[in-house]
Amino acid sequence: MTPAAPEHRMRLAVIDDDPQNLKMVQFVLADEELEIQTSTDAQGGLDLVRRTHPQIVLLDLVIPGVQGMELLEKILDFDPGIDVILMTGYYSTESAVEAIQKGASDYLPKPLSTEKLQQRIHQIADEAKRRQRSLRLDNDLLENFAFEGMVGRSPLMLDLFSKIRRIAPHFRSVLVAGATGVGKELVARALHALSAAGDGPFVPFNCSAISETLAESELFGHVKGAFTGADQNKAGLFEYANGGTAVLDEISEMPLPVQAKLLRVLQNQEFQRVGSPAPVKIDVRVVGVTNRDLITLVKQGKFREDLYFRLSMVELRVPSLTERLEDLPLLERHFLQHFAAEYKKPISGLTRRAQAALGQYSWPGNVREVQNVIGHACMMTESEFIDVRDLPESINTHRPDRRVDADALLSIREIDRLHARHVLDRVGGNKVRAAEILGISRTHLYELLKDAPEEPVEQPRGTLADETA
Ligand SMILES: Nc1ncnc2c1ncn2[C@@H]1O[C@H](COP(=O)(O)OP(=O)(O)OP(=O)(O)O)[C@@H](O)[C@H]1O
Ligand SMILES: [Mg+2]
Repeated sequence: MTPAAPEHRMRLAVIDDDPQNLKMVQFVLADEELEIQTSTDAQGGLDLVRRTHPQIVLLDLVIPGVQGMELLEKILDFDPGIDVILMTGYYSTESAVEAIQKGASDYLPKPLSTEKLQQRIHQIADEAKRRQRSLRLDNDLLENFAFEGMVGRSPLMLDLFSKIRRIAPHFRSVLVAGATGVGKELVARALHALSAAGDGPFVPFNCSAISETLAESELFGHVKGAFTGADQNKAGLFEYANGGTAVLDEISEMPLPVQAKLLRVLQNQEFQRVGSPAPVKIDVRVVGVTNRDLITLVKQGKFREDLYFRLSMVELRVPSLTERLEDLPLLERHFLQHFAAEYKKPISGLTRRAQAALGQYSWPGNVREVQNVIGHACMMTESEFIDVRDLPESINTHRPDRRVDADALLSIREIDRLHARHVLDRVGGNKVRAAEILGISRTHLYELLKDAPEEPVEQPRGTLADETA
């Protein structure tokens, strides 16, 4: 293998008060493609890290004068993306867990086994390279899986994109349904943009919280003297949208008499201004948007059945984020790029812990919430990688409890599985460490996890997935 150019070599800082140990590490790792620098005290070590910005730090946990944990925190404050491996003679599972929760990548007992050290450094260097590659890949993926301002690569979203593409050139009316924040407005925009009227006006209107008279006048316009206060002729939404697309958001809230008039627009492409008998002819596409179940409202007599049937002849359902968690890494990256550019910050990714926390969250606000969370994190972070402490409180306090309930009647295998998950959570998803603590092989751990019923939490996280194993 040809040696890597100096600027491409990984940088390793070793901080240990024992010069013998420093020598040993330098000797053992001399053949690796590493640029090694050392320090025998805490302050010098911290300065070294700040000056040389290494990818990996080997840190002695019991440096005199300062707690290793404290130094670990300072290093990660500087850059949570650095892989810090702790070394100490006082090896215990508890401090290992604590260190890993604080953000250490791993924990090696002293005296160091040279083989283990080499192996671990190799692994981390490979991971770092993979991470770089996957960052590049993700940027490409973003381009490949962007559709009219939407990103997504889950089968559900690819199917939605394909339907939009097929429907857009032909539709007169469409119903777009889905929970809050899933991207219904973006779907309406895409339908418009890809329609024959894509250059025409796009006019959204919110049907909620508006009285019957006002809604009628807003949608269809009125003539002078139609009602008190109508002191001049006024065009309504449909006239503005002529030659383009009208979007009726929260269509379930439209007053019943207005629904009847809307049906006429859909059927005949004509209407009357309030107070005028003269029909107005138009050419408008209508997108009805709802986050409520219209069938239920029809049954309750709150939504006209004929309008529902007319609208739902073509219905697009936008899936919730939990139905397509495969899209989460792509969305994270999409918003990360957006906010990094907006705030002019050199943010290039999320730390492993931050990614794990986002993967465990339930996203009731769907894509809009991802946008808000990443926006918040980009504003807070002072580092190149977004870490858990940059995330809003709501994400960090949301921890699914996977501890085994002592009263539950479970099989041994089920208990094993739950406990394995619990330990894996506690060590931030580090499978190597989790297997070690559990005292089982990694293969065994994988097997246990494979048995798990499909929880959104452990869905494959795409190329951003940063497996420590
Ligand atoms: N697939 C996606 N890719 C990128 N951005 C998205 C995607 N889906 C939604 N967004 C963004 O998320 C936010 C919410 O989307 P949008 O307003 O379309 O949702 P909605 O379903 O209309 O929400 P609401 O029910 O609250 O009206 C917007 O800023 C939008 O740009
Ligand atoms: Mg909306």
